[in-house]
Amino acid sequence: MNLKQDVGYKAAEEVKDGQILGLGTGSTTHYFIEKVGMRVKEEEIEVMGIPTSYQSALLAQQWNIPITNLDEYSIDLAVDGADEIDPNLNLIKGGGAAHTLEKIVDYSADELIIIADDSKYVNALGRFPVPIEVIPKAKTLVENTLSDMGAKVEVRMGVQKDGPVITDNGNFIIDAKFDEIISPADMELELNTIPGVVENGLFTEMVDKVILGSKEGIKELKI
Ligand code: A5P
Repeated sequence: MNLKQDVGYKAAEEVKDGQILGLGTGSTTHYFIEKVGMRVKEEEIEVMGIPTSYQSALLAQQWNIPITNLDEYSIDLAVDGADEIDPNLNLIKGGGAAHTLEKIVDYSADELIIIADDSKYVNALGRFPVPIEVIPKAKTLVENTLSDMGAKVEVRMGVQKDGPVITDNGNFIIDAKFDEIISPADMELELNTIPGVVENGLFTEMVDKVILGSKEGIKELKI
C-alpha cells in the first residue's frame, strides 16, 4: 500500500483537459506529476505546468508536461504536499525547502488541493518546525528574533553537501520549533515582518480541499 501514490493519482484524476497546473514539490506530488504525465501520454490531455522547484520542473520535463510561468498564465489548479495539516486546513510546508515558490504558486491558483498521507494530520500545528527562508546576511538577526519569540532555531544543514542547505532562490533555511502555535494566521504574518525573511512555511486560509490517504481509504477534507 502506497498512500502517497494513492492520493497523488487521485488528484491527477481531477485534472481537466486544457488546465494550467501548479506543480508542488516533494515525495507525494511526485506521484501527482507522474500520473498527469501518464494522462498526457495516454489520453493526450493538453495541460501546462508551473513548477514550484527544480525538482518539480525536472519531473515535469521527464513526463513531457510543458512548463510555463506565472507571467504568461494564471493557474487553474495547484496540487501540493504538506508537512502538517490542522483541522482548519492550515499547513506547515517547507520540509523540502521549496515553500517560497510553493506559496506563490499555491496562492495564485484558482483551486488548491493538498495531498498527503494521514501521518501529516495533527490537532494543532507545531510538532514540525516552521521552515523560514532567510537571506544569508540576515541569519543572525533572524535567529535572535526567533529565539526572542520563544523558538528553538537551527540553520538547516545539507545532506551530501557540506554547510547549509541553499534554496532554489540562493538563501538559507532556518527551522524554528515553537512549543505551540496558537494562531497560525497571526504567526504567518508576524514571521514575515522580520527583516531578511523571504517567506515562512505557514500556509493559512488558502486550501480548498485536502485529499488524505489512510489505511482505511481516501478521505476528502474541506472547510
Ligand atoms: C517542500 O518544501 C514541501 O513543502 C513539501 O511539499 C512537503 O514537505 C511535503 O513533502 P512530502 O510529500 O515529501 O512529504
